[in-house]
Amino acid sequence: MAAPLQYSLLLLPFLCLFLALAFSSGEADPKVPAIFIFGDSSADVGNSKYLSGGQDYYNNFLPYGIDYPSKNARHPTGRYSNGYNGADALAQIMGFKESPPPFRSLLIDNNTCEIDITQAMKGLNFASGGSRLLTESSDGVISMTEQVKCFRKFRSQLTTPYPLLSESLFLISIGDNDIGAFLSETYHKRNDTDFNIFIETASFISNLTATYRNHIMDLYELGGRKFGIVNFVPVGYIPRANVVSRNDTNVLNILPWLCNIALKVLMNNLSSTLPGMKYSIGNSYAVFMKIIDNPGAYGFKNVTDPCCGSALYGCNQTATVCSDRSQYLFWDNVHPTMATAEVFGNLVYDGSTEFASPINFKKLVEDYNELTSVY
Ligand SMILES: *[C@@H]1O[C@H](CO)[C@@H](O)[C@H](O)[C@H]1NC(C)=O
Ligand SMILES: *[C@@H]1O[C@H](CO)[C@@H](O)[C@H](O)[C@H]1NC(C)=O
Ligand SMILES: *[C@@H]1O[C@H](CO)[C@@H](O)[C@H](O)[C@H]1NC(C)=O
Ligand SMILES: *[C@@H]1O[C@H](CO)[C@@H](O)[C@H](O)[C@H]1NC(C)=O
Ligand SMILES: *[C@@H]1O[C@H](CO)[C@@H](O)[C@H](O)[C@H]1NC(C)=O
Ligand SMILES: *[C@@H]1O[C@H](CO)[C@@H](O)[C@H](O)[C@H]1NC(C)=O
Ligand SMILES: *[C@@H]1O[C@H](CO)[C@@H](O)[C@H](O)[C@H]1NC(C)=O
Repeated sequence: MAAPLQYSLLLLPFLCLFLALAFSSGEADPKVPAIFIFGDSSADVGNSKYLSGGQDYYNNFLPYGIDYPSKNARHPTGRYSNGYNGADALAQIMGFKESPPPFRSLLIDNNTCEIDITQAMKGLNFASGGSRLLTESSDGVISMTEQVKCFRKFRSQLTTPYPLLSESLFLISIGDNDIGAFLSETYHKRNDTDFNIFIETASFISNLTATYRNHIMDLYELGGRKFGIVNFVPVGYIPRANVVSRNDTNVLNILPWLCNIALKVLMNNLSSTLPGMKYSIGNSYAVFMKIIDNPGAYGFKNVTDPCCGSALYGCNQTATVCSDRSQYLFWDNVHPTMATAEVFGNLVYDGSTEFASPINFKKLVEDYNELTSVY
């Protein structure tokens, strides 16, 4: 299989230019020594591409990646976006070129998670499209449990000087697939006079947060201290969900809204339980709502339909792509555009408590001292 293009010689001239520009504008001072990213398609930068058979995976074809900067031809990267995603946007704001590489692109051995550490000096991205909290790996999906397991392996490989994990950012963006799956299994059972649905919902939320809790505690035990948690999106606005649910947007949005309250309680609890732990919840729910309520204020014109393909069929090789991609909230029938990712990154990094709380990401990473933090 070809080497990932970000390391190919072809890209070097572009990289040098980018770095020169970045240094000259003083933007390359990283706010954290490294970033470790966990989650689903909202943060995946190509892990699925490196699974067996992954070359032809869902999104490993144009028009995915049509706006990903590259000196060569425009090309798909395995991101669920026309260009960068929210994980990239946050990494860029913190002084990196983009998200750290997908860990699977650095594997030395496919049967363990052992990687080439020299390529991972600024962190790793473990996120995998389709991943959930409440189910284990299925075909082509690396579950959250597996992702944490691979981070543990990486941690055990650290024998050479490496940036301090305690100063690094642990970015987690997961759970929307659990919510989507739960809704599609229970939605048809909805019956206003049947209270079982409330019991099932309570049990779902409790399972979701208990699982989330275990993963964060594991990452804490492995050295993580600064956690950036992306909360659940208002699934009712996702074009695909709207087709399935006959436009019952407000009903669908109740579940992520409740889950976000539970997530807040969980994080508050964890930070008072785990010494030295710091966190920020990036409120992607609020970012979506804000854009949908007032698209023009953020440069958007279309917040209902996917730029590529249709709400029902999504984006594929033959689908029509809109020309004004920066004016669309949604890229395909599930995922946001690069333009949305940028708005998200800016609001979560430097926005008010409406968009990130109890502190924003900027505050979360602000006390990093580059000179003292080598592992
Ligand atoms: C791992 O598996 C992928 C997909 O089957 C393959 O392309 C790659 O060469 C393998 N890597 C190693 C180090 O064996
Ligand atoms: C709704 O629940 C009530 C009480 O359990 C039941 O009698 C009724 O048949 C249900 N309606 C539907 C449409 O399932
Ligand atoms: C929650 O977890 C329990 C125990 O594993 C399980 O029996 C139950 O079905 C789960 N509920 C939901 C809604 O996932
Ligand atoms: C949802 O609403 C849109 C526009 O309001 C309409 O075109 C579409 O047919 C509706 N979908 C369903 C499944 O009712
Ligand atoms: C945090 O949650 C744990 C487990 O659910 C509970 O035992 C503990 O009392 C909570 N602590 C605080 C400070 O809320
Ligand atoms: C959004 O885009 C869809 C298809 O690309 C189009 O049918 C619809 O009219 C657009 N809505 C707005 C408000 O521009
Ligand atoms: C691609 O999407 C279009 C709608 O945008 C749909 O008509 C077509 O069947 C899809 N093709 C494949 C191979 O899924």
